[in-house]
Amino acid sequence: MHAWLCTNPTGVEALAWTELPTPTPKAGEVLIEIKAASLNFPDLLIVQNKYQMKPPLPFVPGSEYAGVVAAVGEGVTHLKVGQNVACLSGTGGFGTHTIAPAALCMPLPDGFSHVDAAAFIMIYATSHHALVDRAQLKAGETVLVLGAAGGVGTAAIQIAKAMGARVIAAASSDEKCALCTSIGADATINYSKDNLREAIKTLTDGKGPDVIYDPVGGDFAEPAFRSIAWRGRYLVVGFASGPIPALPFNLALLKGASIVGVFWGDFAKREPKANAAMMGELAQWYAQGKIKPVIDRTMPMAELPAAYAHMGSRGVMGKLVMVN
Ligand SMILES: NC(=O)c1ccc[n+]([C@@H]2O[C@H](COP(=O)([O-])OP(=O)(O)OC[C@H]3O[C@@H](n4cnc5c(N)ncnc54)[C@H](OP(=O)(O)O)[C@@H]3O)[C@@H](O)[C@H]2O)c1
Repeated sequence: MHAWLCTNPTGVEALAWTELPTPTPKAGEVLIEIKAASLNFPDLLIVQNKYQMKPPLPFVPGSEYAGVVAAVGEGVTHLKVGQNVACLSGTGGFGTHTIAPAALCMPLPDGFSHVDAAAFIMIYATSHHALVDRAQLKAGETVLVLGAAGGVGTAAIQIAKAMGARVIAAASSDEKCALCTSIGADATINYSKDNLREAIKTLTDGKGPDVIYDPVGGDFAEPAFRSIAWRGRYLVVGFASGPIPALPFNLALLKGASIVGVFWGDFAKREPKANAAMMGELAQWYAQGKIKPVIDRTMPMAELPAAYAHMGSRGVMGKLVMVN
């Protein structure tokens, strides 16, 4: 097998496409022949030693992937050789094969492509948990999505629409705004040229959004929170722009508003039954055509450094998927 090996987490340049012995799965594990692996924001942080999870060295990055079960370890009963699966295991995806805990593998129904499956779990689980569980979004409410053309942003647009909400998508270019419209956004704001507060005021008749979904952080958080509706819920999802914003508490008091944290990874660990029910609903929505990952492009696995560069330049719309 081959994989992109990280022996020194100093950045993408230090990754090396390396030949490795194909491993044998131990009890409770499976060997997966990887067909597709998507890039998520943490994949960029982990190779720079900037992510909260620091795997022992050396490791193969690639948190989320899909493929075919090539071998099963002792005690694995719910998966068999030849079965199509998707898995989010944190590492291992950027290669031709990987070992994964069987419990983390989601069997794929017929018709679920490897490319879509590799770009599915992280973004939809995060956005479903955020909007449905944490924000208690209701049909007819207005949702503002920041960084709306990114991975979790595009998923948030589709899920909010599936729930009957009105969606305002905010992103940094007209091209990104056009993509958001094409997947269902009712209105868009290009925050690199429009004043965010003014645009929100105009698009909501001065009322403000009921829910704000923020995976970006940085400079837009405070103006967005100042614009929120009475009883609004501000979802703290991530800080893709870098800086972690600080908000004056009085703003929450003035709007009777809530600042709501979203940490899907821990939700999945702490509340596995609720997470499994949510994943079941998402798979159903995919089969019904209510949600579908936006694929920016697919690239050969050997071109991973170029894919990282594309992601780092803020150019990706939806998800970037590496294929074998
Ligand atoms: N809380 C959770 O459970 C959870 C789960 C998954 C992901 N996350 C977090 O959510 C964030 C977004 O993840 P993602 O996979 O959607 O990433 P992504 O696809 O790269 O999208 C991030 C978006 O942020 C915006 N952005 C603003 N400044 C940026 C910068 N300096 N560099 C890169 N992007 C910038 C970009 O949109 P514009 O150009 O339009 O501004 C971009 O489309 C990350 O911080 C990630 O760690 C959190």
